[in-house]
Amino acid sequence: MGNVIIVGAQWGDEGKGKIVDLFSERFDIVARYQGGHNAGHTVKVGGQKFILQLIPSGILRPGKIAVIGNGVVIDPAALLKERERLEAAGIEVAGRLVISHRAHVIFPFHCMMEKASEAKPGRISIGTTSRGIGPTYEDKIARRGIRVSDLLDAETFCAQFDQLAAEKEIIARALEIDEPLDFTEIRARYLGYAEKLRPLVADAAAFVNRAMNEGRSVLFEGAQGTMLDIDHGTYPFVTSSNATAGGACTGLGISPTRIDAVIGVSKGYITRVGGGPFPTESRGEAGQTLRERGNEFGAVTGRPRRCGWFDVPLLRYSTMLNHFTSVVITKLDVLDHRREIPVCTGYRHRGDILTEMPALARVLEQVEPVYEMVPGWSCSTEGLREYKQLPEPAKAYLQYLEDHIGVEVGSISTGPERDQMILKPGSKLEKLLG
Ligand code: GDP
Ligand code: IMO
Ligand code: MG
Repeated sequence: MGNVIIVGAQWGDEGKGKIVDLFSERFDIVARYQGGHNAGHTVKVGGQKFILQLIPSGILRPGKIAVIGNGVVIDPAALLKERERLEAAGIEVAGRLVISHRAHVIFPFHCMMEKASEAKPGRISIGTTSRGIGPTYEDKIARRGIRVSDLLDAETFCAQFDQLAAEKEIIARALEIDEPLDFTEIRARYLGYAEKLRPLVADAAAFVNRAMNEGRSVLFEGAQGTMLDIDHGTYPFVTSSNATAGGACTGLGISPTRIDAVIGVSKGYITRVGGGPFPTESRGEAGQTLRERGNEFGAVTGRPRRCGWFDVPLLRYSTMLNHFTSVVITKLDVLDHRREIPVCTGYRHRGDILTEMPALARVLEQVEPVYEMVPGWSCSTEGLREYKQLPEPAKAYLQYLEDHIGVEVGSISTGPERDQMILKPGSKLEKLLG
């Protein structure tokens, strides 16, 4: 088994958690490379539901090692709570979780600043998850951030923290934040977290590279999705990290030459949470039905997800950026009720069909999707496990998607449970997973 990256091909929530959980059986290590506890990856196993935010989904598989890379931003309170939740559910975490000493740390003032700036009149509201993700990456890029290694060295930490606190105090006043910020309390609390984190902290890049040298395989778990990537997504309506495949290399300290395959995960339709352009959004009853059937509510914030139709130009763009080896189509069962399924095959803008993804959110807001209607199957595919059991129109729909995006559909998910899954016979993905 080689080293494989799993990437969300849309705006997040494609079902990456389920796919990572399923595939992780065949890998030794599962590693997260970006984002933070803005992610919510749902895994259902035998009726038990887990929502993983920071800890890679591979932790649910006994014996696997979970790694949190340098590209991730960590809220220690959230991480420790997540570990407690897993342990309470009988999942052993001790000795199986490695945290990069180079990952940056989220502080309460990051969340506070984010909420204040999101609410500021006249500012474009992104509709973030309010977890302090953006402000923490801001500090990282501005070279004033505090890393896990800094936190573990009390002297370094206190000096850095006091300097950062002084700056944040000025900003808090400028933003008219009236929530009290007790920096002394925060500093003491974080020194406490440091001791709890210490046994988990290591040089994650060295750990993963050594494991690879010894022939062990790594599954990279992407968070968010390609269209939320800070560079390639629908800026400014994006997250603050590189969710695309390249992020796995920088976010863990891995050379691109060590990556054997990139798997894209996409729903058979599409959703988005928060603000920003969404050409195929269905605001009417059809979108509402997708939301209800797909239970499309944010795993982290509970917000209703905006729902719409499969967007070929978006998937082609995502495929170009990530060069997918194979695509997994999830939530096929959610479309079981449709007699016809609209699929967007192009964007029209001022009379022309666009050949590239516009960089301006304003242009993407204005595009008019060109739809083709593909026959539905009007029967249940829920829980099917073999490709041959799929109704012919469902196979034709998947073939249609494959032909239009230009990459094989190697696997199809037919329900939230771990085993509600089809691996397409003869696909590259089947060969890859052995
Ligand atoms: P992630 O962030 O990409 O891991 O995705 P989320 O966990 O946020 O959202 C995916 C949701 O769809 C979760 O509630 C999953 O349990 C659910 N899910 C995943 N695959 C399927 C599927 O094939 N069918 C159905 N009905 N639900 C699915
Ligand atoms: P997973 O890993 C869907 C969205 C937020 C907001 C934007 C920026 O579960 O797919 P942030 O808090 O990151 O600064 O918010 O990105 N967003 C997600 N949407 N799935 C996610 O993660 C997301 N993480 C962030 O809703 O629009
Ligand atoms: Mg999610």
